[in-house]
This record gives sequence, C-alpha cells and structure tokens, in this order.
Amino acid sequence: MTLLLLLLLVVSFSATGNWAQESQVWMWVCQEGKCVKQPLDRDMTPQGLQACKLVCDTYSTLWPRPRGKVELGRILAPINYNSITITGTSGDHRALSKNVGQFFNIAADTFSNQLTTLFKKREQRPSDGKSLQVRVTIRDSYTRALKIGSDESYELYISEADTEIQASIISTEFFGARHGLETLHQLITFDDVTDSLVIMRDVNITDSPAFPFRSLVLDTARNYFSVASIKRTIDGMAASKLNTFHWHLTDSHSFPFQSQTYPQLSLYGAYTPQQIYTPQDILSVVEYARARGIRVVPEFDAPAHVGEGWQWAGPNVTVCVNAQPWINYCVEPPCGQLNPTNDTVYEILGGIYHDMFALFEPDIFHMGGDEVNFGCWRSSPEIVNWMTSHHLGQTDDDYLQLWDIFQKRAYTKVVEANGGKEIPIVLWTSHLTAQGTVDKYLDNKTYIIQIWTKGSDKVIAELINKGFRVIFSNYDALYFDCGFGAWISEGNNWCSPYIGWQKVYMNNPYTMLTDLGVDISPGTEARELVLGAEAALWSEQVDESSVDGRFWPRAAAMAERLWSNPDEGWQKAEYRMLAHRERLVRQGIQAEALEPQWCYQNEGSCPE
Ligand SMILES: *[C@@H]1O[C@H](CO)[C@@H](O)[C@H](O)[C@H]1NC(C)=O
Ligand SMILES: *[C@@H]1O[C@H](CO)[C@@H](O)[C@H](O)[C@H]1NC(C)=O
Ligand SMILES: *[C@@H]1O[C@H](CO)[C@@H](O)[C@H](O)[C@H]1NC(C)=O
Ligand SMILES: *[C@@H]1O[C@H](CO)[C@@H](O)[C@H](O)[C@H]1NC(C)=O
Repeated sequence: MTLLLLLLLVVSFSATGNWAQESQVWMWVCQEGKCVKQPLDRDMTPQGLQACKLVCDTYSTLWPRPRGKVELGRILAPINYNSITITGTSGDHRALSKNVGQFFNIAADTFSNQLTTLFKKREQRPSDGKSLQVRVTIRDSYTRALKIGSDESYELYISEADTEIQASIISTEFFGARHGLETLHQLITFDDVTDSLVIMRDVNITDSPAFPFRSLVLDTARNYFSVASIKRTIDGMAASKLNTFHWHLTDSHSFPFQSQTYPQLSLYGAYTPQQIYTPQDILSVVEYARARGIRVVPEFDAPAHVGEGWQWAGPNVTVCVNAQPWINYCVEPPCGQLNPTNDTVYEILGGIYHDMFALFEPDIFHMGGDEVNFGCWRSSPEIVNWMTSHHLGQTDDDYLQLWDIFQKRAYTKVVEANGGKEIPIVLWTSHLTAQGTVDKYLDNKTYIIQIWTKGSDKVIAELINKGFRVIFSNYDALYFDCGFGAWISEGNNWCSPYIGWQKVYMNNPYTMLTDLGVDISPGTEARELVLGAEAALWSEQVDESSVDGRFWPRAAAMAERLWSNPDEGWQKAEYRMLAHRERLVRQGIQAEALEPQWCYQNEGSCPE
C-alpha cells in the first residue's frame, strides 16, 4: 500500500513538469487602483506585489504622502545597484560646506543601505538596468541644526535619459534634501518576479510639511533604554519624516543623565552603573539625530518627578521622596518633589541645565512642570514655615504662587545656562496652565504649552486665545503606553484602551480646535500657534525589548497626519500604512503587525 502511494507521488511529480524549480506562481496586476493577485503569466510582463504597489495607487507607497504637487509616471525602469551615484552641491554649484557635507554623506549612505534592505536575501546584487544618477542641490549649505522656522521643503524630479535614470533633489536647507532622499528611496523597490531593482520613472514632486513640530517623547527614567535602541527609534522617525526627539531623561524613579557638574546625581540615581547616559552617549545621539534632520529636545522635569539621585544633596533639597501611602503625595510611586524654598536646589538645577545645554545645544528646552502635588509640599514643616514667614497661607492658590516662584527662579537658571539668551520653554499642561490662570503666571512669548489632557479639553481653546503656542499630546490619541495591564493594581492600566493607528491618524489638531470653537482658518494667528504634535511613550511598562512595537507603526500614522494633514480618512491610507510598516521592518525596526499578511496581498479586502 505504502509503496503504491509513493509510486503515485513520483508519477505525479514528473507529470507536472518543473514546478519544483519555479519560485513564483502568482503575480499582481493593477486594476482600478488596487493590486489584484493572479496566476503568473509570463507572456504579460508580470510583476510582483511590491512593484505593483509602487505604480498602482495615487500616492504610490509613499509615507507620509507628499503635500504639494505629485506627478507620478507609473512606469518602472530597472536600475543597476552597482552604478548608483549620489552627488551634493550648494546652490552655486560649489561643494557643500564641511559641516553639511558630513551630514550629506550620512544621508547618502543611509539611502544606499536602505536599498540593500530591499534585496538582502539575494546573493547577487541586481545589475541589469540603467545607472542611477542622483544630484542633490542644497541652496543654504551651512545650516545643520533644525530650528523653529527651518525650511524642510524639497523638490524631487526623476526622468530617463539614454543611458541613465536621473533623479534631482532641490532644497533650501539640508533637512529638505534629506527628506527628498527618503522619498526617492520609497520610489525604488525590488521586484521579486523579474528579479530586478526598479525605480519609478517620470516623477515631479514638490513637498513640505503641514506642521513644523513632529515629535516623539521617550521616557528613559521609568525604565532604561540603550543608546542603540534610541538610535533605532531615530531611524524610524527619519524614515517617517518626524523631526523632533523629546528626551524625558530623568524622573523620580531613576537619574540616568550623567551630569559633569554633579556626577553624584547619576552615581546615586542610575539603576546600575551601566544604565547611564554619559556625555559621549548624549553627543552621539544628538549628532546621529541631526544628520537625520531631527532635533533633540531635552527635558528636565521639575519641581515634581524627582527623587532618586538627589539623596546626596542633603535632607531639605527634596521633599516626600518615596513617601507612603504614595497616593497622598503623587500619582504613582515613588513620590518626590524639589523644595522650592531651599537655595541649594537652584544651584544644583543651574549645574544640570548648564551640562544639558553644553551637550544638546537645544533651540527649545523642556522644563516639565508636570503633576505638582501640593500635598507633598504641605507635608514638609520646612516649606509650611517658609510659607508663613512669607505671608502665604496653605491654600492651593498659595501653593500655585510658590510654584510660580520656583518656575521663575528656575527659568533664570535656564537663561544663564543658555549664555544669557532667552529660549522657548515647553511646559506640560497643569494647574499652572489651568483655565483662568495660565496668563497670570506664564508669558506667551516664552512658553509653549504641551497638552496632555483630552483633545476636547476647553483649556486648549483658552491657551490659543491667549496667544500661547501649543503642542498636542492629547492622551486619548497620542499616549502609546495606554491599553496594557495595570501595574499598581490589576485589570487595565489607567488610560486603557489601546489606541489603534487609525485613531492616531485621525487626531487632527485643527479639527480639535475647530470643535472647541477656535477659528484656525489659513492666515489666522491661531493657526500659526499650533506647532504640531508629539506621541508619548511613558516607560513604566516598556523598555528596549518592546519599544519598537509600542512606537511603530503608530508613530508613522501621526507622522502622516502632521506632514500631509490629509482630508481623507485612514481607509485611504491603509494600504500605504501596511507598505510602510513592511519598510520599517526591513530597516530593522520591530514594528507591530497590523493585519494578517493576507490583507497586504489582497488589497481592499479587509477593512470594512
Ligand atoms: C513632469 O514635469 C515635466 C516638465 O513640466 C513634464 O514634461 C512631465 O510630463 C511631468 N511628468 C509627469 C509624470 O507628469
Ligand atoms: C537647604 O538644603 C541644604 C542641604 O540639605 C541644607 O544644607 C540647607 O541648610 C538648606 N537650607 C535651608 C534654608 O534650609
Ligand atoms: C531641614 O529642615 C528641618 C526642619 O524641617 C530642620 O530642622 C533641619 O535643621 C534642616 N536641615 C538642614 C541641614 O538644614
Ligand atoms: C500675549 O501676551 C501679551 C503680554 O502679556 C499680551 O499683551 C497679548 O495680548 C497676549 N496675546 C494674546 C493673543 O492674548
């Protein structure tokens, strides 16, 4: 019986010919803007899924999709990986300055490396096809650090000449050129049916972002993240044209920032001697980010969210550190706040700010200001006595005044650290920025307010109406730590449920403001005050082993909202989101899967 079966099998193998040698039986055909899976037909210039996706839809597989002119030829041309050249010149056809030239070389290397991820399983690099000449022109070839008001726009043209494909990228500043290379790379793919590297021919794109501030915040204090994992996060940001990495360096839980003025802080406050950020670590992250068009904004959160690391400074510099029951003094254990009545506090703050400014050279500084608990301050006899001797009572209003005193004194230390120059300061929404009080304590020239309450919070309208610049981190759409198990109890964590990419994508700052009755039509001052948004990853329940999946691909959904600000819903972006997620994974980012791969291969068949 067994023998007979075996014989039958042998017969059937030989009968079907050489299919064992074939690696493909499917191809994809573009029909009505969708790639449709069909049996392979060698007579009809077949193409694989990637190649089909590149030409099929309105915005190809571009992510974020360009905002200006998008003219796509929808014809693919094979190119030879071994004859790609990338040259960069300044507006007057001279060499780029040394500083920008260095960054340009990094951008060019990143571009080439990204291409190799397209066919990394192949032994042979695709060499059939024309050469590719990429010419990049950067008009202002000196500016290397992003600022508010930097020009991130670029133009990209691709055309075919006799022997080569020519791509030309033109930008004002380096940042635009870098974005242009990112877009160009997204117009190249490896077609696994024809085994060739292909580029889309005949392309005209002009592009620039809708919002100037497109950011992620990572908290490296609740749990520690290696420099390598931070750089990987920056890679994902660059691939998605985000431009700001806000680094929440310290908190009550740990103090990994190695201060040169006060090395005791990380000596006492780091989880382990290895889990610190040395000055060299910080410089390498800042430079790595800059070369990818990204500014790093450091945060030193104060006067709350401090604790570990301050033990050496003496008993009256901090109050309520690790006080129990914690619920009376802070929102999560361990508690701790600075003592605003003690002069030593400002001396140490001055040293921390000085060290941070020397390393980060920030154009914006984040002073935190999150979740100050008056119960903590009231628990200190020192502070209570000080209040009395300064004719202040014990009400919340009195303690707001104490906080105001702290904020003003700390700000003068920040200005000192910045060489005596004023600098925009970001603060989280808090009692200090509450309805009716915000303009009493803070001035709208200096302070940028980062909103973390819900997108429907009425205070947002008031902030705009009082002339404050704002950044949206409304937790109902942009807190990526929501939706996991609780850790201070059982059940779900405080801001559950999990926020899907669709909700992130639809989180439109202008819509939220319109719903709050603010006129943000083009040309209004109100519109100019909306800098953008920032997705937050608070790290109580994440460290570097799962950071990629928490951020990606959801952070990319926010990236398209902020770059392109599309009118259409997420449904129109779904196929490109899946393609971008694949791209991030190819580039070494462990982005979460959004759907069965079947949906990626059968476009338009899954979401309702
Ligand atoms: C790009 O612009 C050129 C010059 O205006 C034009 O000839 C060409 O047709 C455009 N390409 C596409 C795909 O529209
Ligand atoms: C402030 O704290 C330091 C360190 O504990 C202490 O030496 C100093 O006396 C305190 N100052 C006041 C006014 O309590
Ligand atoms: C700290 O404050 C307490 C009062 O709460 C005071 O008795 C003590 O002398 C202070 N310590 C220092 C070092 O200033
Ligand atoms: C911004 O603050 C200044 C100074 O306090 C004030 O005069 C101005 O009216 C404020 N802007 C708006 C839009 O309220």
